[in-house]
Amino acid sequence: MIAAYIVYPVLRFFTPPAVALGEVDKVFVTTLDKMGLNTAKFFKFLDKPAVLVHLPDGKYTSLSAKCTHMGCTVAFQSKDDNFICECHGSIFNIDGKVLKGPATRPLPVYYVDIEGNKIYVTVKKQLA
Ligand code: FES
Repeated sequence: MIAAYIVYPVLRFFTPPAVALGEVDKVFVTTLDKMGLNTAKFFKFLDKPAVLVHLPDGKYTSLSAKCTHMGCTVAFQSKDDNFICECHGSIFNIDGKVLKGPATRPLPVYYVDIEGNKIYVTVKKQLA
């Protein structure tokens, strides 16, 4: 039995991860016609809250909506183009950078892929 406590962690260490290098985690979020300018759509990505924003200049961005302080979900403030966490008052800009603490780390940014009328969010750019 003690051998199992030793062997199992060693085997797990040498076992390839469930997600192979280059594999893309990708989720369909919405369609172009459902995202007005300066609006945000919250969705679940990788079991965490995430947000897609249609910026005033027409571009799209997507970030984790999980505050990096203690994990509350941030809210989008369209008039200032930023995210506020109502738990302890952290504010993040549209790029995820911290404008006001207590959070010290930025919100992770995801990639937006538009295919036809469909908007997808991915962890990383798809390999060609
Ligand atoms: S959890 Fe967001 S500021 Fe504390």
